[in-house]
Amino acid sequence: MTKKTIITLPGDGIGPEVTKVAVDVLKTACRAFDVQIETIERNFGGIGYEIDGEPVTEETIELCKKHNFVLLGAVGGPKWDNLTADKRPEAALLKLRKELGVYANLRPINVYPALAGASTLKEEVISGTNILIMRELTGGIYFGEPRFTAEENGDPYSVDTMRYSRSEVRRIARKAFDAARLRDKRVCSVDKANVLESSRMWRSSVVELAEEYPDVELTHMLVDNCAMQLIRNPKQFDVMVTGNLFGDILSDEAAMLTGSIGMLPSASLGDGNGLYEPVHGSAPDIAGEGIANPLAAVASAALLCRYSLDMEQAAKNIESSIETVLKEGYRTADLFSDEPGTTKAGTEQIARRLLEILEKAPTEDLQASEGP
Ligand code: IPM
Ligand code: MG
Repeated sequence: MTKKTIITLPGDGIGPEVTKVAVDVLKTACRAFDVQIETIERNFGGIGYEIDGEPVTEETIELCKKHNFVLLGAVGGPKWDNLTADKRPEAALLKLRKELGVYANLRPINVYPALAGASTLKEEVISGTNILIMRELTGGIYFGEPRFTAEENGDPYSVDTMRYSRSEVRRIARKAFDAARLRDKRVCSVDKANVLESSRMWRSSVVELAEEYPDVELTHMLVDNCAMQLIRNPKQFDVMVTGNLFGDILSDEAAMLTGSIGMLPSASLGDGNGLYEPVHGSAPDIAGEGIANPLAAVASAALLCRYSLDMEQAAKNIESSIETVLKEGYRTADLFSDEPGTTKAGTEQIARRLLEILEKAPTEDLQASEGP
């Protein structure tokens, strides 16, 4: 048995419920390959603020840096909305991303065939969609300085700074081109180069790097057009690379192609670290009711196997257990629509079924690693 240690940060709202399922699934999937997963849990976000007085402690940050791999639930809730910026739950997340140096945020948008009817968009538009959003995660307007609130002639104002350097753009673009080489060999870089200086830097840096990848087709799209194209014809995209803010917005939009934001996993990579979290938020309105969709957290655990543990078959087993559960008709409330052959299921019920399927999953590597 090999032992691997993962830090878990369940966080707020439905975070603990979905993280528990993800951890159980991860342990079961890895055990089949003689890998024992040990977890260390810490408070994070609003709950961290309540218990430790800080949304994240230095000890937790150091622990994550030491063990490299982190599985996170969700943070935030109306209860903490009026705290100062540094005490807000979101501050913990931004700090953790920055401290871990996880600059590349991979958000794969796959439409599960069983859910093609669950999207608010027409089935023929979305079926077969397979996009990898590569969002820059430790720069841009989320972190740019200066950043302040002041007053001029009695009129208060605030400033945020959108900043990108050539090296920051090159390293995320490289991730996108490398990922594209293992897929359909197409990269669409999304910016606002018709208006923003930082976007012109973005575009010229991507164009320059593309010379190293003559086998990958590079196109550019303005972010407003991209928002429209994503729902007009999502199948046109293979890998999309974009900055922190645009990636945040476009990935929520793209999530709806999959039927529910409750389906979308993410992996944040950089400096040898991996932070895995569902894209959805803490959904405080349904927290504790046992109805949260755990599948995005579970799919994030699959990405952890793939990118940090180098356990491709375990990742595939988890992903196919998700597919099977959906094919069998189980739907959490966010996906349920009275469709014939479907059953409304709670978090626990989905978890039990996933574990049963995983107990019977293949225990030998069937295919070589494919990467993103
Ligand atoms: C996300 C979230 C975060 C972000 C928030 C919670 C800070 O929306 O991961 O997409 O904006 O990055
Ligand atoms: Mg977001």
